[in-house]
Amino acid sequence: VKTLEFRDGALLLLDQTRLPLSAVIVECRDHHQVCEAIQSLRVRGAPAIGLAAAFGVVLAAQEAAGEDVGRGVYLDAAIEELRATRPTAVNLFWALDRMQALARAQAHLDDASFVAVLLAEAGEMLREDEESNRRMGAFGADLVPEGARILTHCNSGALAVGAYGTALGVIRAAHDQGKRVHVWVDETRPLLQGARLTTWELQQLSIPFTLITDSMAAHFMARGDVDLVMVGADRVVANGDAANKIGTYGVAVLAHAHDIPFYFVAPFSTVDLATPSGDRIVIEQRKSEEVTSFHGHRIAPEGTVVANPAFDVTPARLTTAIITDRGVARAPFGEHLANLAGPAGGDDSPNSVLAGTDRR
Ligand code: MRU
Repeated sequence: VKTLEFRDGALLLLDQTRLPLSAVIVECRDHHQVCEAIQSLRVRGAPAIGLAAAFGVVLAAQEAAGEDVGRGVYLDAAIEELRATRPTAVNLFWALDRMQALARAQAHLDDASFVAVLLAEAGEMLREDEESNRRMGAFGADLVPEGARILTHCNSGALAVGAYGTALGVIRAAHDQGKRVHVWVDETRPLLQGARLTTWELQQLSIPFTLITDSMAAHFMARGDVDLVMVGADRVVANGDAANKIGTYGVAVLAHAHDIPFYFVAPFSTVDLATPSGDRIVIEQRKSEEVTSFHGHRIAPEGTVVANPAFDVTPARLTTAIITDRGVARAPFGEHLANLAGPAGGDDSPNSVLAGTDRR
């Protein structure tokens, strides 16, 4: 099933709030519906949000033809509305900046050609996304030993991207190479992206897994049952600090305490070199009902005060390596990420690990 697809002038999304119990496709016919889908997590995961927003710009261009304010003004307002949906995953801003730059460069085109050019660009981003995930899979699979027992948090599979997956993509690539792997799936409170989505994907891929609650990770690490941790990221900043789903930092601290390698897997569209360190990342705060309720059923008394940050930041010192679509970066991350971002953009070979780094 496709995470997202543009067909007959509409963006079709597999509604991730309904999985795994029902596979429902939602149809977005205007950019307001895309904003709602991103905010309500019908589409979620850093790269998938960016791609949905890119197609949201295409929808806005379609709408703009009938608007009095003028196409450019209408489109800029729509892009601001899409930008305001979620603050943490940098892919959203990366995708919107790219679409906005193209729209401005092609402002001379007639309406039909303008929409066609934007649609081609969003389609190209979707194609590049799959390619980059497969590259990360090839880079990362080398780091997965035969028989590895891998712990993951949240969902970083095909549902979180256009196709294939980031951290789950690496696990999938290792499995496809014939390595026997087993995945410990953190349920990922409060919204259960692990319990609902990662399990659903692993089942379809026939990759063995065991679902655990978030609080069980320490227990299994202490018993020697976890060989490595692999997670996706929503924003990797210049010094290698990385934001990911709330709870990731705790998993990284535990991995460090048990001397277990901890890997982030993220394409360069998730890398934000303009932000120097993790304390500058804006963390999304979500509704209290996500914590006071469990799958629609209230579990805390009325009036309970709640904190609900959707993400946390893992400091680079806890990370063994960041597997990107341009190669694998290790400490010192600042230097290595900047090298990978440079014009050479890393080495093309799947074994590209920057010189001077040691493997754990
Ligand atoms: O709130 P979500 O479900 O959008 O959060 C998603 C994550 O934290 C993923 O781990 C992250 O986007 C990286 S996987 C592509």
